[in-house]
Amino acid sequence: MQTLHTIAEVRRQVRDWKMQNLKVAFVPTMGNLHAGHISLVTEALKHADRVVASIFVNPTQFGPNEDFDSYPRTLDNDCAQLAEGGCHLVFAPSVDEMYPERNGTWVDVDDLGDTLCGASRPGHFRGVTTVVSKLFNIVQPDVACFGEKDFQQLAVLRRMTKDLFFPIEIVGVPTCREASGLAMSSRNGYLSAPEKQLAAEIHKVLQALKAEIMVKSADFRSLESKYSQTLEAKGFRVDYLQIADADTLLPATLPSSRLVVAVAAKLGGTRLIDNVVLTI
Ligand code: PAJ
Repeated sequence: MQTLHTIAEVRRQVRDWKMQNLKVAFVPTMGNLHAGHISLVTEALKHADRVVASIFVNPTQFGPNEDFDSYPRTLDNDCAQLAEGGCHLVFAPSVDEMYPERNGTWVDVDDLGDTLCGASRPGHFRGVTTVVSKLFNIVQPDVACFGEKDFQQLAVLRRMTKDLFFPIEIVGVPTCREASGLAMSSRNGYLSAPEKQLAAEIHKVLQALKAEIMVKSADFRSLESKYSQTLEAKGFRVDYLQIADADTLLPATLPSSRLVVAVAAKLGGTRLIDNVVLTI
């Protein structure tokens, strides 16, 4: 596995592969990798001959009071996991390589990026779509894999890819969980042992809510407040818990479509997100 740090080197390598008619899949990450990230590489290998992963903690998707400075940078360990997972090339650029001067061009997806996490993290998705556009232009993959754990991010990136005619197939990959049900996340490392145990309640509460929706169609808004209170009573500070239409991400009203129950909640200083999808 090669590790490259410059745009020019990556372009050269991908051009060589394309000349040999090899298909290229791409897995963008911010590093501090866990089994969830490696499952994206495993999926990517099913779609292409070569897999490129990027490791870049993207400053433009962090708010002023968020954890950009403290976000764990663990490049050597990440590269070892990626090599083991069958990845062929890691692109690990510096901030100056990706943003050589003040950034003057932004990619922003309306509507889908404004609700849920977009409402509580203004500018977050604009940073994500801008950096993923840059990365797509550098790597020019045939396929790109993203996790369903970040359900809204996946929806926003699908929309961006479609609207901007990127000739890239977007593949969504199911969420990898700990045995406790806790969705794996780089931010789980911020949790103390008791917090980590409690964090697993999020998945259990989502499963209970899903079961209640499946058994009897009820008033979604009152279910949202009932289950938010359940989480608050367990010690979470709920940012949102929403039963939304899985396509528009707007609050669902009719129990007729594909729904996503999405939650963001803080435990101590750590913000956790998770979701469950259901069709009724
Ligand atoms: P990061 O949080 O490092 O996640 C990289 C990819 O791994 C994303 O597609 C995310 O959805 C996926 N992922 C994270 N946890 C997962 C899990 N438990 N199971 C399956 N997949 C999981 O998401 C980002 O980075 C950034 O926003 C990025 C897209 C790289 C743009 O900077």
